[in-house]
Amino acid sequence: MCGIVGYVGPRDCTDVLISALTKLEYRGYDSAGIAVFENGKIEVAKSKGRLTDLVKKMEKEGKPNGHAGIGHTRWATHGEPSDINSHPHSGRRVTIVHNGIIENYKELKQFLIDNERTEFLSDTDTEVVAQLLDFYYEGNPIRCIRRVLHELRGSFALGIVFADRPETVYAVRCESPLIVGQGKGEAFIASDVPAILKYTKDYYLLEYGEIAVLKNGSVTFCDFHGRMVEKVLKTADWDEDSAEKGGYPHYMIKEIHEQPTAVKTTITPRIENGMPNLSECGITPETLRDINNIFIVACGTAMHAGMVGKYVIEKLARTSVTVDIASEFRYRDPLIGENDLVIIISQSGETADSKAVLNLVRETKAKSLAVVNVKGSSIARDADMVIYTHAGPEIAVASTKAYMVQLAVMYLLAFEIAYAKGKIDEKECRELIAGLQNIPEVIDKTIDAVVDECQYISTKLITADSLLYIGRGLDYALSMEGSLKLKEISYIHSESYAAGELKHGTISLVEDGMPVIAVATQNTLLEKTVSNIKEVKARGAMTIVICDEYTEIDEDAADYLIRVPKISEVLMPMVATVPMQLLAYYTAVNKGNDVDKPRNLAKSVTVE
Ligand code: F6R
Repeated sequence: MCGIVGYVGPRDCTDVLISALTKLEYRGYDSAGIAVFENGKIEVAKSKGRLTDLVKKMEKEGKPNGHAGIGHTRWATHGEPSDINSHPHSGRRVTIVHNGIIENYKELKQFLIDNERTEFLSDTDTEVVAQLLDFYYEGNPIRCIRRVLHELRGSFALGIVFADRPETVYAVRCESPLIVGQGKGEAFIASDVPAILKYTKDYYLLEYGEIAVLKNGSVTFCDFHGRMVEKVLKTADWDEDSAEKGGYPHYMIKEIHEQPTAVKTTITPRIENGMPNLSECGITPETLRDINNIFIVACGTAMHAGMVGKYVIEKLARTSVTVDIASEFRYRDPLIGENDLVIIISQSGETADSKAVLNLVRETKAKSLAVVNVKGSSIARDADMVIYTHAGPEIAVASTKAYMVQLAVMYLLAFEIAYAKGKIDEKECRELIAGLQNIPEVIDKTIDAVVDECQYISTKLITADSLLYIGRGLDYALSMEGSLKLKEISYIHSESYAAGELKHGTISLVEDGMPVIAVATQNTLLEKTVSNIKEVKARGAMTIVICDEYTEIDEDAADYLIRVPKISEVLMPMVATVPMQLLAYYTAVNKGNDVDKPRNLAKSVTVE
């Protein structure tokens, strides 16, 4: 959801804010705006549309000129994308940018109206906060911010400037992430680390209820009660290059190519002498041995990684795994037992629904384990145990490398649990680990082997209104992600179906020329899957089959075949994912869509 930035220092503030916002545009991109102190006065520039629209507007109308200010890129929650609803929003003496959601904004607005504050210009919850800050402001910014924090309900991070405190930026965090960057004689705020990497790698992580004051190039902190706080400076291990496109036309294709490295970096520290070892994550065989049931809870792509995890853990560790969508799980009063394990998977570590699940787990005696990519994110900090995936920054909204490393972690966990519970012996465990260690190389080979075919087949998909992804077992789990990837960036309606379930209703959708993509990498289920492929083919479907290099598929079943390298059946999802990602990518490219910033989406979903 929205990205916020701020700067205080010797550089041209507008340039810094725009550059930082460019790195946060993945969080929201329906409007953008900045507020900069120019000769002691707050100047605001904002515009509906992409950041480039704001830049064009400023080229035409003039840009604010100064050395301190705040900026915002928006994913609309309250009020449609428009110039008026764009941030920053102002009261008479206060201007703010906001990431998150104010749940009680209607009550607060009514309170302000009752107190003769009626000058609301926008439909946003943010403007209510700006007006409320203004209402309580008596010349002491910190006291005013603390007063308002008591009134607000929801999750939010704010960047604030007060008209009578020139060259100073205030920031506060409640739930929504916010970091404070520290350079030489300059300071920054940002919703995410990549925004400031061009200027500094040193940053502080703002905690719940903490307020930062950026002035004269340095930062001071206080807590919710106004007490000064000493914070530890962290250093980002992501560099600027890893957050850049590096010669690729889109982040998505760059990130697809980064998968071998991402997998290697994720698994290597968790393998010792050919056996899984998750002790650095606080997980020991003893912890795993007594687990009763496992719940995997996540959203979107991360949930799909959990689906693969379910099949693999159940198969190898003979432990029952339930996979849930976080927004459902948190409200369905789940039965979580004392020896159960709840695994929360999240790239960002900030997804509101996934985060809420941790509160639920805390009320039980079960343990929580977070599988998270962003270090220090809320979910990582709140869980009992954490396995960090080391994918590096994922900028494209459509997740690829984060999914791949989530799969890698699911495998590591499955192997470790299976071994700890005595369901596989050491020899089998070693073989599985060796197979996983081989994956980076195989992904590389797969990209080379399928890229041309995927590019070509995508030209056949662009005219489709709707398509189906089908598979059985692990192929079904995988096809869920293939389908999501394709629909979110190509805007072609797509559903994934368990191949055997098709004829219970959905097959009636199949008509002449409808693309059906079948994933058929599970040899034990091959015959049955092929029968299902033939059933749709007989009804006019254009069939695209993803299978390994040796599988024999009847000529009359497949219009197009995408062959991937053969590895052990249980690990096939990590290979078969690649053509699904490439099919989605090239279909979106061929349709002329904005691949990295698909419409209506945002990278990090910090509201319910
Ligand atoms: C789709 C995608 C989303 C995310 C979902 C959860 O490509 O990326 O479906 O997987 O919003 O986000 P995280 O993993 O950050 O919790």
